[in-house]
Amino acid sequence: MDVISAISTRRSVRSYTDQPVSPETMDQLLRLGTMAATGNNTQPWGFVVIQDKDEIERLNQVIKADLLAHLEDYPHLQQYQKGLEDPNFSVLNHASSLVIVYGDTAAHYHVYDCTLAASNIMMAARSMGIESCWIGFAEYYFASDAFKKEYGVPDSYELVSTLTLGYPTKPVTAAPDRRPPVIFHRS
Ligand SMILES: Cc1cc2nc3c(=O)[nH]c(=O)nc-3n(C[C@H](O)[C@H](O)[C@H](O)COP(=O)(O)O)c2cc1C
Repeated sequence: MDVISAISTRRSVRSYTDQPVSPETMDQLLRLGTMAATGNNTQPWGFVVIQDKDEIERLNQVIKADLLAHLEDYPHLQQYQKGLEDPNFSVLNHASSLVIVYGDTAAHYHVYDCTLAASNIMMAARSMGIESCWIGFAEYYFASDAFKKEYGVPDSYELVSTLTLGYPTKPVTAAPDRRPPVIFHRS
C-alpha cells in the first residue's frame, strides 16, 4: 500500500483479533516511528511496548477506575461516563498490543517529534494491515509517576501518545469523513 492510500484509508479501529503483532513487525514499526523528523535532530523518544493481554486488561481496569474517581477533573471525558462504567468497555480496545510514546522534555520540540513518530507508526501499521487507535483516555495514568516508575520511564520523559495496535476484526472500508481544509487568506 502506498503512502497516499495509507493516509486516505486509515481509521481508528477499536476491535482487534487475537492475532498478535509479531516482535519483528513491532520492531519494524518502532524503527519506522524513529524515521520521523525532529527539531534539532534530537530524536527524543522512548517507547513502552506491552503485548501481554492480561497486563493490558489490568491497565484498562486501573485507567477506568482512575478516570471515574476523578471525572470532575476531566470535563472533556464526562460524556463517556456511561461507557467507563460499563464493565465490558475497554479503554484499550481489548487490544493485544500497546505502544506508549514518551518524549524527553530536555528537547524543546519533543511533543511535536513524538507525535510525528506516533503518526509514522499508525501509517506504517496501516500499510501492513495493522490498524490503530490513539487513546487519549490513557493520558493521565501513563503519565503518572507510578506507571513510569513501574516501566522504567525516566522522570524527564513526558507521555505524548498511547496507541493500541492490532489486526482488525473486520476490514476497514469507509474512508474517513473530513471537512474541507480551512484556509486563511490575507485580507
Ligand atoms: C489525541 C487523540 C485522542 C484520542 N483518544 C481516543 C480515545 O481515548 N479513545 C478512542 O476510542 N479514540 C480516540 N481517538 C480517536 C478519535 O476518536 C478519531 O481519530 C476520530 O474520531 C476520527 O476518526 P478516524 O481516526 O477513524 O478518522 C483519539 C484521537 C486523537 C488524535
